[in-house]
Amino acid sequence: MATAQTLSPFSFSTVPHILCEAGAAKRLGEEIRMRFSQVRRALIVTDAGFLKTGLVDAPVASLRSNNIDVSIFSGVLADPPEQIVLQAAAEARKYETDLVIGLGGGSSMDVAKLIAVLAGSGQDLKSMYGIGNVKGSRLPLVQVPTTAGTGSEVTPISIVTTGETTKMGVVSPQLYADLAVLDAELTLGLPPKVTAATGIDAMVHAIESYTSKHKKNPLSDLLATKALALLSENLVAACEDGRNLGVRQSMLLGATLAGQAFANAPVAAVHALAYPVGGIFHVPHGLSNSLVLPHVLRFNASHAAPHYAELAEILVPDATGTAEARTHAFIAKLEEIAERVGIETRLREVGITEADIDRLADDAMLQTRLLTNNPREVTREDARAIYAAAW
Ligand SMILES: NC(=O)c1ccc[n+]([C@@H]2O[C@H](COP(=O)([O-])OP(=O)(O)OC[C@H]3O[C@@H](n4cnc5c(N)ncnc54)[C@H](O)[C@@H]3O)[C@@H](O)[C@H]2O)c1
Ligand SMILES: [Fe+2]
Repeated sequence: MATAQTLSPFSFSTVPHILCEAGAAKRLGEEIRMRFSQVRRALIVTDAGFLKTGLVDAPVASLRSNNIDVSIFSGVLADPPEQIVLQAAAEARKYETDLVIGLGGGSSMDVAKLIAVLAGSGQDLKSMYGIGNVKGSRLPLVQVPTTAGTGSEVTPISIVTTGETTKMGVVSPQLYADLAVLDAELTLGLPPKVTAATGIDAMVHAIESYTSKHKKNPLSDLLATKALALLSENLVAACEDGRNLGVRQSMLLGATLAGQAFANAPVAAVHALAYPVGGIFHVPHGLSNSLVLPHVLRFNASHAAPHYAELAEILVPDATGTAEARTHAFIAKLEEIAERVGIETRLREVGITEADIDRLADDAMLQTRLLTNNPREVTREDARAIYAAAW
């Protein structure tokens, strides 16, 4: 007779409202007016690339027709530098905004979170880095993702570039937004390469959450598996036919579900090894993850095969044999997806030389916040070997 498994204690947090509806951004004003009756001024946080698409116009018109004044900060840069965050927060204070809207990819949403806490309290940014270090409250915060994606719309995390090449995270419950609006109309024009890289980032969130060492739990597992199903079923189609609204909405939901999963069961060595690739060589976040993904999973297989085999049921349902055999089929399928969407698959293709591998390994070991979640301990020599395999 099977014995009942003991349920380990866990906690789970997420944003209180998610609106998943194509076209919803055109009604952003009504949605915000309904929930925040006192709001007079809103600051939209985006980047110059997204501003140029003209997709900001409809939400702005909707806010104005609901008697909300709007100012736009479009100075966000990818992998946002600290200076940009401080500049944006100063503008928010000057404008006396009473609500912040992140409208863009992970970079814009991450900046929006920090503006909301910086403009809402007197605390300085430097004292916020790390886990649980935000002290005060924040301004009301609405997140509208335009990539699918980082999941930042539902995570309590903001990643900032602090030096030339280093990134630091602010992780605090105040960074959970009040509302996330998932409107795939905003993502229809996302170029195939960005669709591919950001989509694989979301798949990595689901995979790493499902094997997260300490905080994996039944809710994060449910979200991660549903996310992986949505993302793997739609990623290739989204890259090949970006104008397909149904496919894009599924990608957006998949990315959000993966975000909810890893906000509670955090990511690990794939992200730890991806950060130096992005930081030193300015490779986009999703692509850096994709480059190291199969090699980290192969390294982890000795410790995580039963979990990868469960995920294989989603990606390669026909795979048979031992957990190890199904794990290898799973990894091979992920490699096939990266090939099909046409992004780079080797570190040497993104300007990295063999001589850079030692520096990458040294930097990866600094990502202790992430490495601690990995199912298998990673030594510096392990990290070096993984980079060498990915090169
Ligand atoms: N907070 C979190 O939980 C979390 C998780 C993972 C990653 N991140 C961070 O998020 C950032 C990466 O975010 P990202 O991958 O979404 O990219 P991004 O926000 O840097 O945007 C990438 C590019 O895509 C363009 N773009 C965005 N949406 C578009 C659209 N709909 N149409 C046309 N162009 C569009 C932007 O203008 C930009 O040039 C990194 O800084 C990373 O560290 C945060
Ligand atoms: Fe990520």
